[in-house]
Amino acid sequence: MASAPFTSCKYMKHIILLLASAAFTHPSLAFAPPKQARTKPALTSASQQANDDDGSLKVAIIGAGPSGLLLAHRLLLSSFPVASLEIYESRSDPRLASNLDGRAYALGLGIRGRTAIKSVDEQLWEAIKSRGFECDRFRLHINERINVKLRDAEVGVEPSVLIYQTDLCGALLDELDNRSKDSSIDVRVQFNANVTDVDLISSQIKIGDHIHDSYYDLIVGSDGANSVVRRSLTKYSAPFAATQRKLPGYFKVARVAEMPPKMDPRSVALVLPRKGTVTAFVEPTIGGGGCVLFACRLVKNSSADANEIDLEAALFGDASVTTNQVEDMINEAYPLLEGTSGLSEAVQTLLSQRNGVADSVKCNIYHSKPDATPTAIIGDAAHATGGVSGQGCNSALMDAKVLSDCFAEYCSMQGSKKAKLHECLKSYSAQQVPEGLALYDLSFGNDGETLPIYRSIASVLSTVIDSLFRGRWGIGKKPLQTLLASSSTSFVEIRREREKYFVKDFPSDEELVGMLDGVYK
Ligand SMILES: *[C@@H]1O[C@H](CO)[C@@H](O)[C@H](O)[C@H]1NC(C)=O
Ligand SMILES: *[C@@H]1O[C@H](CO)[C@@H](O)[C@H](O)[C@H]1NC(C)=O
Ligand SMILES: *[C@@H]1O[C@H](CO)[C@@H](O)[C@H](O)[C@H]1NC(C)=O
Repeated sequence: MASAPFTSCKYMKHIILLLASAAFTHPSLAFAPPKQARTKPALTSASQQANDDDGSLKVAIIGAGPSGLLLAHRLLLSSFPVASLEIYESRSDPRLASNLDGRAYALGLGIRGRTAIKSVDEQLWEAIKSRGFECDRFRLHINERINVKLRDAEVGVEPSVLIYQTDLCGALLDELDNRSKDSSIDVRVQFNANVTDVDLISSQIKIGDHIHDSYYDLIVGSDGANSVVRRSLTKYSAPFAATQRKLPGYFKVARVAEMPPKMDPRSVALVLPRKGTVTAFVEPTIGGGGCVLFACRLVKNSSADANEIDLEAALFGDASVTTNQVEDMINEAYPLLEGTSGLSEAVQTLLSQRNGVADSVKCNIYHSKPDATPTAIIGDAAHATGGVSGQGCNSALMDAKVLSDCFAEYCSMQGSKKAKLHECLKSYSAQQVPEGLALYDLSFGNDGETLPIYRSIASVLSTVIDSLFRGRWGIGKKPLQTLLASSSTSFVEIRREREKYFVKDFPSDEELVGMLDGVYK
């Protein structure tokens, strides 16, 4: 198909069309609110009368990120008989943290994230929304003068909420503190508790070098792409299998006090550089501030030639440069960023920041085998696309929602605690593994075997495409991105509608059931 060489100019037209169509073709919002496995108000007497033998459960959640905390909220309100809920987080409390390493970027909560959060209640969503910035505009700046509006406000489409991960977690934690006060469930969040091992035979966890003297009925790993819980599944629950890959390219993020004066203060923007290969995403945040993410694909290190130092080598490579030099390079590459207040401080942050890299993660199943400690993984621990789709946080929140929906059936089941939990986890995997597979395909093609047309466009336009893919905002960019961010159509359905772009067909429902049932046969 597209083997004929195109000029880059023609390609630029392509991408503009591709992107522009994102702004105007909207998926029909055939959005039926998902079946509510509706949370029961407050507690059932079951958990109040709980003693060790009557089926009440000790739960550990490893990782106090958005999905782990949302799960805690759901468990707090559900009829699922939880006696204690312990949440372990290796980092410090985001509400106190001065060290924002790895949490500096802002996320875009689209319809999926919103649906998941609202499954707790409207009040939780309001608390979160008030700490973010509602935004439905997205602009691509080709150069200082030419820009394309990729998405604009639309009737009937709720804007995405752009929110720093620290603020999202802060809101979830404040609400959790407040709500757990009147609960008979013992909820504890422990920060700076680095879980280094999870033993799925003894049902214990190790924090640092110490085996913690608690036994858990249920362990949930929401501990990110480098998940310790996933490692334990590999170790104790074969044939569970996972692959994790580093994605090419680097990124760095800085916050600025005000949006650049030459840009729309209410729009997310992708800014192409006047020269060089580093692209910039600028994103408005709460209180008039902004967040800038610089991304590049490859770093040629500067070798000895000081004349060769470019922005790429300065930001991501080993070049030794001063803050002023980098500021000049940024102003030269992006005239639109000129005059941004606080740019010098931002550059200092960038220079002291480690290069961010993203991982992809893929697993054959998201829970443990029947005779191991009932264990599940959610979010990046189970499936990661490294920000390629802008859906990482949204799909993680959906995992938490679906997992807690699955526990709602626990009380009506027969059998031992372990057998019942296993059934719940099985039904969680049955729903979310296909979603994870589909999102992975949509982000990368099925393991690089996408049809040539897709591949050649992607490679020629790598700067633009990659930058888009680097975007951590769930805001529509191409038709696919819009679909992912603003429609509640399942990833599986979206993937199946795009069969022609892939070498391998997506498995049928029967095949998926067979694959999942086959893992722990
Ligand atoms: C947690 O422990 C692991 C293994 O000892 C270590 O590599 C990692 O840096 C620690 N993380 C934190 C946040 O302390
Ligand atoms: C805590 O909950 C109470 C009752 O719902 C509410 O009035 C109060 O504003 C909440 N506090 C915070 C900090 O959310
Ligand atoms: C260039 O240097 C940086 C920082 O020292 C390093 O992280 C990166 O891997 C190097 N890149 C190459 C291509 O050698």
